[in-house]
Amino acid sequence: MASASLGLASELNSFSKNNFLSSSDLKNNQILSLFELAKQLKIGNRRIDLGNRVLGLIFKKASTRTRVSFQVAMARLGGQTVDLNPQVTQLGRGEPIKDTARVLSRYCDVLAIRTFAQQELEEYAEWATIPVINALTDLEHPCQALADYLTIQEKFGALKGINLSYIGDGNNVANSLMICGAMLGVNVTICSPNGFEADQRIVNKAKSLSEFGSKISICNDPSKSVKEAQVIYTDVWASMGQEEEYLKRKKIFEKYKVNRNLIDLADDDLIVLHCLPAHRGEEITEEVLESPSSHVFDQAENRLHVQQALLAVQLGGL
Ligand code: CP
Ligand code: NVA
Repeated sequence: MASASLGLASELNSFSKNNFLSSSDLKNNQILSLFELAKQLKIGNRRIDLGNRVLGLIFKKASTRTRVSFQVAMARLGGQTVDLNPQVTQLGRGEPIKDTARVLSRYCDVLAIRTFAQQELEEYAEWATIPVINALTDLEHPCQALADYLTIQEKFGALKGINLSYIGDGNNVANSLMICGAMLGVNVTICSPNGFEADQRIVNKAKSLSEFGSKISICNDPSKSVKEAQVIYTDVWASMGQEEEYLKRKKIFEKYKVNRNLIDLADDDLIVLHCLPAHRGEEITEEVLESPSSHVFDQAENRLHVQQALLAVQLGGL
C-alpha cells in the first residue's frame, strides 16, 4: 500500500504547477494515477488539506456542473473560490488578458477558465504565473473527459479495449473524448452528420497519441457506429455560442438521436453517457436518459472527484 501511494505521488508530482489546457497535457500514467487519487477522495480514504488556497473562476459561458464541482472541490481541499465573471470584473470593460492574468496571479493560486476561443485560454496561460485549467472552450472540455473515463473505468473495471461510440456534433466534448480516450487505449468512434465531423487536426492529434492499439474513427452512420459499443455518448446538437444555428441543426441531426432502437443495436452491458445539460427529445430520448443503462448522474458526480484530485496535484498537495 505504501509503495503504491509513493508511485501515485511520483507520477502526479511531475504535474504540479502545470496547466491543464488540453486533454493531451496529461500523460497516460498521470491520468490513471489521477483516477486512483480521485477514487480515494471519493470513498473518503484520503484527505488533503491545501491550507486556504484560492481558485479563481473566470466563466464567460453558463455552467452548473463545472462551476459548482470546482467550488465544492476547492472547499473540500480547505480552500476557497472567487468568482471572477467578466460581467463583474474589469475584463468586461476591456482590460487586457495579459494584465488580468498577471494581477490575478498575485491573488489566486490557480485559475479555471471557461471561454470561447482556445487561443484566449492560451493567452491567460502565457501570462499567468499560476496553473490555468480549461473549464471548457469551443475546442476542448478536458475536465469532462477525465470524469467520463473515470466513470467508464468504474463501470467496466478497465479502459483498454473499450469501444466508445459518440453520436452527434463533432464538438469540444468529442475532441477531448478522442484525445483522452486514445491515450487510455479506448477505441473512440465519432459519428456525426456530414459537415459536422470532428476537426481533422484533433483526429490526427488523437491518433498520434494513441496507446495500446486504440483506434480513433470518424463515421456518419449511427447504426454501424454503435455495433459492439460498450459506451454510447452524446451531447447537445448546438453548443453554447451556436444558438443561432439551433433550428438548422435540429433538422440535420434528427437521425443522430440516441433512442431505444439505437441502444438495442449495441453491446448487452452498454452504458449511456451524456455530459449534461441534456435536451430531452433531441440528442437523447427521455426513455434512454432515465433508463438503467444511463450513468449520467454518476458521470456528473465524478466531475467533483476528478477535479478535486487535479487541483490537489496542481497545487502541490500530495
Ligand atoms: N458538463 C458541463 O460542463 O456542464 P456545465 O455546463 O453545467 O458546467
Ligand atoms: N458542447 C457543449 C458542452 C456543454 C457542457 C457546449 O459547449 O455547450
